[in-house]
Amino acid sequence: MPFTSTPLQFNNSSSRFARQGDKAMFDAIVADMLAHGGALAPSDHWNQNLGKTPSQSRISSYTESLYKEKYSNLALMLDPWVGVTGMQPLQAHSVTKYEPFLRALDHDRQLPGDLLAYGQKYGWRETDLGSLMDVALITAFNRITPASGERLRVFEVGGGYGRLAEAMLSMVPGKMHYVLVDAVPGSLMYAFLYMRQQFPDLKIGSFYNGDTYSQEFDCYIMPAWQTPSLPDRSFDIAINVESLQEMEQQHVDYYLPLFARLTVIGGLIYLSNARDYVFRGTWHLPAGWQPLLMCNTPRSWTADHPTMAFRNEEGDYRHEQRAHEAAFAAQINAWRNEQELMARMAVKEVPPQEQPRPMSFPLRLLKRAVR
Ligand SMILES: C[S@@+](CC[C@H](N)C(=O)[O-])C[C@H]1O[C@@H](n2cnc3c(N)ncnc32)[C@H](O)[C@@H]1O
Repeated sequence: MPFTSTPLQFNNSSSRFARQGDKAMFDAIVADMLAHGGALAPSDHWNQNLGKTPSQSRISSYTESLYKEKYSNLALMLDPWVGVTGMQPLQAHSVTKYEPFLRALDHDRQLPGDLLAYGQKYGWRETDLGSLMDVALITAFNRITPASGERLRVFEVGGGYGRLAEAMLSMVPGKMHYVLVDAVPGSLMYAFLYMRQQFPDLKIGSFYNGDTYSQEFDCYIMPAWQTPSLPDRSFDIAINVESLQEMEQQHVDYYLPLFARLTVIGGLIYLSNARDYVFRGTWHLPAGWQPLLMCNTPRSWTADHPTMAFRNEEGDYRHEQRAHEAAFAAQINAWRNEQELMARMAVKEVPPQEQPRPMSFPLRLLKRAVR
């Protein structure tokens, strides 16, 4: 499945993020999370902005004023979802950062010649270049071509407002069944409101809209605590981007085996996360995940921030996983050495003749964006 010939022309391109919330839906999600979220409710990293009563350490309520301040409009959540750099309107430096990687991936030469002009014309943000990259990598490794009349089935955890879901569904409208799972009330609410706004002609459903889950939906939004009811081997691709990195061990230990259970044999697992950010626990990769890719990308904003692709298999691929880890460890090491060198150069400790030529991921790391 290649890039579409006209990548990412968004509906409502100049106003897509100016979306009001739905307080009644938000309250219903919060109530459901408190009643049924259990260990799958989000960690404090995602609850920190939410209301707490003095007597309880975890979230217990959302006051009107907190809702207004943090959740009443989709744009208010762009920073937590895609970061302060990701949410910026497309600029030349973002194109410079992503373009070499994207061009190298673009086997069919379908990227617009002038990425900056095209992206600015269609209201792209920097994060949309990340979507192009995700789509290109996913489609490069995906081997599943649905039989005629059937649809590619995609399962994503922690999809934010639907950034990647929108890009994926735009490729082949009507030919994909895309499930977005989350645990954070604002994400569960806006994923539904945003996807419905952007795809008025597709069937968009949500647990919180009273819709019963079925594969008839083009896109369906559900909370994590509903996932036990999903049938084994019912998806072709499972995705998590910039999300497990912000969870706790119990969440990661729930989602990785869930991906293995839900994905068909031969299906694709696509993960893109920092491992040196909030979650610094253990990634218990299922033994049957045959590694295909493990590398930093232009989106990596820490040293250990790999994008990984695996084939979901029944064998034991732990040795192959270790081999990829070893190769990636060398990449991290080179990156850290370069940072150290750049820092020394900044205080003029390294004479010019010993200064290195720029490498693939240069100085910008010193000015790492704060998410
Ligand atoms: C930084 S955002 C990334 C959003 C999206 N993947 C992207 O790259 O644009 C992290 C996402 O993970 C979700 N998330 C955080 N904790 C979660 C949990 N315990 N279970 C499921 N999703 C969670 C957030 O609601 C949000 O959608």
